[in-house]
Amino acid sequence: MDHFQYSNGRLHAEDVAVEDIAAVVGTPVYVYSTATLERHYTTFAAAMDGLDATICYAVKANTNIAVIRTLADLGAGADVVSGGELRAALSAGVPAGRIVFSGVGKTPDEMAAALTAGVMQINVESEPELDVLANVARSLNVRAPIAIRINPDVDAHTHAKITTGRSENKFGIEWTAAHQVYARAGAMPDIDVVGIAAHIGSQLTDLEPFGEAFHRLRDLVAMLRADGHNIRTLDLGGGLGIPYGNEEAPIPSPAAYADVIRSTVGDLGCRLILEPGRLLVGNAGALVTRVVYVKEGATRTFVIVDAAMNDLLRPTLYSAYHEIVPAKEAPADAETRQVDIVGPICETGDTFGTGRPLPPVAAGDLLIMRTAGAYGAVMASTYNMRPLVAEVLVKGEAFAVVADRIPVETLLARQHLPKWQGETAGSVSTEPANGPLAKAK
Ligand code: LLP
Repeated sequence: MDHFQYSNGRLHAEDVAVEDIAAVVGTPVYVYSTATLERHYTTFAAAMDGLDATICYAVKANTNIAVIRTLADLGAGADVVSGGELRAALSAGVPAGRIVFSGVGKTPDEMAAALTAGVMQINVESEPELDVLANVARSLNVRAPIAIRINPDVDAHTHAKITTGRSENKFGIEWTAAHQVYARAGAMPDIDVVGIAAHIGSQLTDLEPFGEAFHRLRDLVAMLRADGHNIRTLDLGGGLGIPYGNEEAPIPSPAAYADVIRSTVGDLGCRLILEPGRLLVGNAGALVTRVVYVKEGATRTFVIVDAAMNDLLRPTLYSAYHEIVPAKEAPADAETRQVDIVGPICETGDTFGTGRPLPPVAAGDLLIMRTAGAYGAVMASTYNMRPLVAEVLVKGEAFAVVADRIPVETLLARQHLPKWQGETAGSVSTEPANGPLAKAK
């Protein structure tokens, strides 16, 4: 359930017509609904009732600080995977003590930033990373609280590009190596082993793989405790799927997911860390775009819009489905016809939907791509030298731009001609005076 509904024939985000936002901010623009964010967070938190659970929002799904703040105000912590995400979470007001730092390639600088901030836990994904972290902790004179991410080798039954818990994936250490790696970590004076972490994939629409993975974690907790480790936290990752509107079967509810947690790891006496991303923000966002042309092709009709794969990559990258509706409500008896909704980028993959039934639309009309709050704006780029997409947050009757559109002037301003090509006004060569390229002049 979300708060993007028609009212008086116009699609609204809460009490604001998206048409009004587009008129002020322009298109394409991401629009987020505070009420939907709040609803998803409170539903998820209520499902975990009775469990010692800390909800660390996976900010990679939507790193806008206003979105993070909305969730932090409700008590959410954060799961971050880069120094940049750590800064965003801290800037948004998430207390460091509620931040988990995950990721396969943390650099020493990122580790130092996390340790200095005082994050709750760093999830270590390999032995080389463990060694580097121990060195960084020693240099800062702190003990690094860690969990080791275990790859439980279960099939998450999701898109190949977002499955993470198979032995062939790059994430975590094989669960069969846990005994030995924990023994090493446990012997390191600069490392404080606090828990175990796992994350098996994203957009899971089936609870069984969660059950399988959590059972494996349960066994590991018992084994590692028997080895003498004081395992206090169990990070179960994120991954619960959401409805995009094209599913054949219903998506499991947070309550059903919580039941799996209760029945597998609920009684271990561990503080549970949950890292939902998509579930909290996916349905809380939409991408608003304007029709540029309607083009009658030889065999198909193309609705060409001003958003493109650089603004919303999911359809191109994962063949993902996003429901697309007009901002103006069509009469119930309106005839629809099958159209392809495409962006202006010079790639056939720049397609948002094929054979979609739409009521008649014309140049200038607005279309809304729903369920784009997760992995939408965060994966946007400026490919084809297109401005970076703007973002707006709505709350009741109010809306605010929470991320500016980055105009082409700014994109051009960061590019420079080297000296040997002749500097243009405003461009500064970054070549050092006596640098290795000096001879090229
Ligand atoms: N925790 C870890 C360690 C993760 O790697 C992820 C997502 C999450 C939590 C949050 O998962 P969620 O609850 O959002 O499923 N760009 C892709 C999704 C990539 C997910 C990566 N990791 C997409 O657009 O579908």
